[in-house]
Amino acid sequence: MFYEKILRPLLFRADPEKIHDRLVTLLASTPVSAFAPERRIFSMGGFEKIGLRFRNPVGLAAGFDKNAAALPAWYHLGFGFCEIGTVTPRPQTGNPKPRIRRIPEEKALVNRMGFPNVGAREVRRRLERFRDKMKRTDFSIGVNIGKNRDTAIEKSGQDYGACVEILGEVADFFVLNLSSPNTPDLRRLQGTEYLEGILGTVQERNRRGEEKPILLKISPDETEERYEEIAEVIRKFGLGGAVATNTTVFCPNEWKIQGGGGMSGAPLRERSGRVARRMRDLLGEDFLVIGVGGVLSGEDARARRNAGADLIELYSGLVYRGPGLVRECLEALS
Ligand SMILES: Cc1cc2nc3c(=O)[nH]c(=O)nc-3n(C[C@H](O)[C@H](O)[C@H](O)COP(=O)(O)O)c2cc1C
Repeated sequence: MFYEKILRPLLFRADPEKIHDRLVTLLASTPVSAFAPERRIFSMGGFEKIGLRFRNPVGLAAGFDKNAAALPAWYHLGFGFCEIGTVTPRPQTGNPKPRIRRIPEEKALVNRMGFPNVGAREVRRRLERFRDKMKRTDFSIGVNIGKNRDTAIEKSGQDYGACVEILGEVADFFVLNLSSPNTPDLRRLQGTEYLEGILGTVQERNRRGEEKPILLKISPDETEERYEEIAEVIRKFGLGGAVATNTTVFCPNEWKIQGGGGMSGAPLRERSGRVARRMRDLLGEDFLVIGVGGVLSGEDARARRNAGADLIELYSGLVYRGPGLVRECLEALS
């Protein structure tokens, strides 16, 4: 309640991206463990699948900590795992600002960030530092990877492959982001003509080093036929599963930012839930399905798990409900 009644109204007076960056910087420089005590529920039994260990099933979604700036904070706030990124091989600044908008009456966000990030090599150094400091085997870190904006679509496989090569020793798993609506043509990569080429390159690079599980992050806006193709390709290339879903482009025009962007939060809940269920049906029980999109309460978390998600991730819910949402979800899932 403190967050929603007191803190959120103050935070929402500021520009969304500025306040987000400030909060992440603050979390990075604060010993969060001092005022966020370790709770028994944070290590609820643990969960293992596709060779990965999670101390609990609630994770931080990609985009919240794009540059691996505040890893210890995510652990101390109670997350069981986190997905950092999207990281591209070379650093880039992303789309022009403003590029995040809040729609408070709908508990939604619209963003068109376009993968601003410090690049794969710097993220690798940060992950190495974290690994040296905090030796945690029950807190898996996934790196969400993408292509640089100026890489031609036909050469995308090289960018995903380069990220896997640079980050292979420090990531516990990878998530290939083929579904952001904010990098031109990126979603075309979910079609089989490109997908098979990219996965061939990625798996070849992955198998040169310590082979890490690879998941696909998929869009909520595809046809039934496309989901079937995606599931087929996940099996064919020996991937670990899917992260369902990214943001949707289906939102009122007046919410968009300069005509573009993807929507997250409460209005995405149903669409994401449907896709998580579909991926579970198509893939069966042996694959990992992470459900993300519109989880804003413990009840949403439970519903997403009942829809077939092994794990869930939070982004917009943290903005609207605050960090107490992690514990609320864990209690609902326990
Ligand atoms: C401001 C913002 C930035 C995001 N950046 C990324 C990103 O870099 N990579 C990615 O895969 N997803 C990104 N996402 C999508 C989230 O990871 C998540 O899939 C989506 O927001 C749906 O979850 P939610 O409804 O809980 O927010 C971003 C979302 C927001 C709101």
